[in-house]
Amino acid sequence: MVSLSSESDSITVVKQAVGRAAACRVKSGMIIGLGTGSTTAFAIQYLGGFLRSGALSNIRGIPTSYQAAALARRYGIPLTTLDDIDHIDIAIDGADAVDPQKNLIKGGGAAHTQEKVVDSLAEMFIVVVDRSKVVDHLGVVPVPVEVLPFAVTPAMRAIQKLGGKPEIRMATSNKDGLVITDQGNIVLDVKFDRIDDPGELNRTLNTIPGVVDSGLLVYSCPMRSISPLEPRLF
Ligand code: A5P
Repeated sequence: MVSLSSESDSITVVKQAVGRAAACRVKSGMIIGLGTGSTTAFAIQYLGGFLRSGALSNIRGIPTSYQAAALARRYGIPLTTLDDIDHIDIAIDGADAVDPQKNLIKGGGAAHTQEKVVDSLAEMFIVVVDRSKVVDHLGVVPVPVEVLPFAVTPAMRAIQKLGGKPEIRMATSNKDGLVITDQGNIVLDVKFDRIDDPGELNRTLNTIPGVVDSGLLVYSCPMRSISPLEPRLF
């Protein structure tokens, strides 16, 4: 029996459950996109456990961040690179917001640029989220935008002209100053009142000189979401 003493405990249990459910979709021999964040971390942990127990063999992971690579190494998942493979069978990744059309906001961990590359190449993309991520409309959660440090001021002005309110993401613990991405760039968290067309906004943001990528993921590959309460695929 699991005793839940707080809402955050219960969210952790759900993250663990969806992480396990996602890992259970992986078959021996597959190439797996390994997302970033606390929910995907559970999936990586389960994949390592399945390898150790012999339930899985011969899988290889493509990490989407330093964090994902470090976790994969800790749990014994062999890694490869995009240069060494010709396909990705399944990508498992979290999200910060999911709308009813399953458009995503990613980048809460500043890893969205690599995540979008890996997730969009996968033949199946499994999004692991708890209920707190499911929204009626994108716009409540700020959109992360990775920007070259050199271009941050003009990029912020351009984003303001689009109606966004950008803020440079600052480190919250154990580091003073800015968050720097794995690519050495800055993250802007941009508040928009309401995002009616995430695809169009993604395209517009990504045409601003100096912007590397927005955290809006409007994907074209078949996606499976794992629901917040009962782990199930739909
Ligand atoms: C990383 O930059 C993000 O895109 C994460 O995938 C997202 O923030 C979800 O993370 P959690 O599973 O920790 O909520």
